[in-house]
Amino acid sequence: MYNDKVMDHFFNPRNVGELENPDGVGQVGNPVCGDVMRITLRINDNRIEDIKFRTFGCGAAIATSSMVTEMVKGLTLEEAMQISNKEVAEALGGLPTQKLHCSNLAAEAVHAAIKDYRQKKGLD
Ligand code: FES
Repeated sequence: MYNDKVMDHFFNPRNVGELENPDGVGQVGNPVCGDVMRITLRINDNRIEDIKFRTFGCGAAIATSSMVTEMVKGLTLEEAMQISNKEVAEALGGLPTQKLHCSNLAAEAVHAAIKDYRQKKGLD
């Protein structure tokens, strides 16, 4: 049901874990299934210097979480805010239609973590 790239990110997820003293934290739940994703960010000079995720969810949720961490690492905060759930699913070579909702967590958790950082800094 999943393509090779999705399987690779599922079995060998990148950037798993939680950063110590993160600059931003984002946690989102998927209203469709109740699964949860948490992102921690280290931000330096307006760029995402480091990022880690923890996801309690299905294989597609873990694969999309892993993929989005690779996509946004090194980007400016403005660039990372532009990444959409759809782009994450596309970067994985697509997801089965019934699993597309699982990709909703990935970009949203990153955006939530950036917003958290901006709020803490008084930028929002
Ligand atoms: Fe919950 Fe996929 S079934 S994120």
